Amino acid sequence: MTQTPTLYDTLGADVGIRSAVDEFYDRVVADPQLAAYFEGVDMVGLRRHQVEMLSAATGGPKSYTGADMAAAHAGLDISGEAFDRVVGHLRATLVALGVQDQTISSVLGAVSPLRSSIVTA
Ligand code: HEM
Repeated sequence: MTQTPTLYDTLGADVGIRSAVDEFYDRVVADPQLAAYFEGVDMVGLRRHQVEMLSAATGGPKSYTGADMAAAHAGLDISGEAFDRVVGHLRATLVALGVQDQTISSVLGAVSPLRSSIVTA
């Protein structure tokens, strides 16, 4: 029986998601309007949780073991503009990695409902 590939498979499974997350955070911390949010943050742990989170959200086998989105971002005073910039870096990362437009739309569609939990400023 042939199964329909999940969004996780389309992104290149574990290897694909890891390279997307690495490139994504390189872009985020290089953005002068976002860097301050990540000062002093354990980026190894953050990348690991983000890989789990994206894997779980796209139908992959890993479950997410980090804090829930509101708790993880509480007290960071994240503005709507900062959220949009982060989503923009996610989109640019997926474009740079050659991911198809339709897949990019699905990934962005999966993160946009998180806005109300993450934006607090
Ligand atoms: C676009 C949707 C977003 C998703 C899916 C997301 C996902 C995550 C995940 C999975 C974690 C790890 C939580 C943990 O380790 O328990 C995290 C932490 C964090 N996120 Fe986000 N995030 C998003 C947007 C943002 C934005 C817009 C900012 C700031 C501009 C941001 C800044 C941070 C910081 C600084 C941490 C680390 C907090 C700490 O360790 O104290 N995130 N995020």
